[in-house]
Amino acid sequence: MIKIAVVGTGLIGMQHLRAMEHTDACQLCALCDVNEEKVKELATQYQVPYFTDYHDMPGQVEADAVILNLPHYLHCESTVFFLEHGMHVLVEKPMANTVEECERMIAAAEKSGKKLAVGHVQRYFRVNSWLKKAVEEERFGKLCMITGKRSINYFAESRPGWFLKKNAAGGGIGMNYGAHALDTLFYITGERKAEIISGYGNLKTDHDIEGHMQYMLKFPSGLSMCQTLSGYNESGHEVVYYFTDGVLKVEDAARLYQYVDSRWVQIAIEEDELIMERQMADFCRFLEGKPSMICDAQCGRDVIAALENVYKI
Ligand SMILES: NC(=O)c1ccc[n+]([C@@H]2O[C@H](COP(=O)([O-])OP(=O)(O)OC[C@H]3O[C@@H](n4cnc5c(N)ncnc54)[C@H](O)[C@@H]3O)[C@@H](O)[C@H]2O)c1
Repeated sequence: MIKIAVVGTGLIGMQHLRAMEHTDACQLCALCDVNEEKVKELATQYQVPYFTDYHDMPGQVEADAVILNLPHYLHCESTVFFLEHGMHVLVEKPMANTVEECERMIAAAEKSGKKLAVGHVQRYFRVNSWLKKAVEEERFGKLCMITGKRSINYFAESRPGWFLKKNAAGGGIGMNYGAHALDTLFYITGERKAEIISGYGNLKTDHDIEGHMQYMLKFPSGLSMCQTLSGYNESGHEVVYYFTDGVLKVEDAARLYQYVDSRWVQIAIEEDELIMERQMADFCRFLEGKPSMICDAQCGRDVIAALENVYKI
């Protein structure tokens, strides 16, 4: 049984806790959050010790691994800390705010001999696994172009304040949803390094993060991808894949369609609510040295390298 501690019990931390309840290979052994009231209540519920400072955990907790669900600016420091104290790490996406930070995290994993993975959970959506296989098998011919559009109210009052500050979050909608889109692209296509052009800004709020972004990647293979992200209004999430022998569309990362005889025809794929559970089970396989499709540290780093280029240009 793999013993796992969870640090950060906000929105995604709670989802990891629920996923662990359904994963036979692991068990929760400790919790940490600066919000003592919340973490104390959770610790009572799960009957595990709790901490309000993760630096106090090594020596007091016998964990094989830790899941880090913290504001982005803490990803590098906390990951290096736990690796240096002999624990494997699953750090939430994006891996860190800069490539330099990602490389420090990779170096710490190599030095400690412990494993490091990044919680890019969207690769566990069934549509994305289905698409990866279709691309590999050239089921619709060769993949030539992809267009992605995601438009939401990024500045909703429910969003934790740190997400809206550049020094804490590293960026805005690009750092957050752009990172998801890039990992999904890398996962489905196997491509990594691209020429990039981009535009971004914030024309609506006073926050120092971007509220809209558009980038285009062109890979050496000729494949290109254009991604549009708007944080000002809600109008959905759609990705269209143009193959030589067909066009496919994914809506809301759940429903898949093919364009046939002048209309979109749905391809039945049974999506479920178990995306986090699939990632958790796969993280355990990764720790056991078994084949795993989890986002490894190198891919997490390549997502940040692409984003650094998006922000630079
Ligand atoms: N994979 C996904 O689909 C997905 C979805 C949401 C968030 N995320 C990622 O998960 C991470 C956390 O996001 P969230 O939405 O859960 O944020 P959140 O603000 O809801 O949760 C963060 C938690 O960390 C705690 N915290 C802050 N500083 C701490 C510290 N020094 N020590 C211990 N705890 C501390 C906060 O009290 C809070 O409970 C981010 O990297 C985010 O991008 C991923």
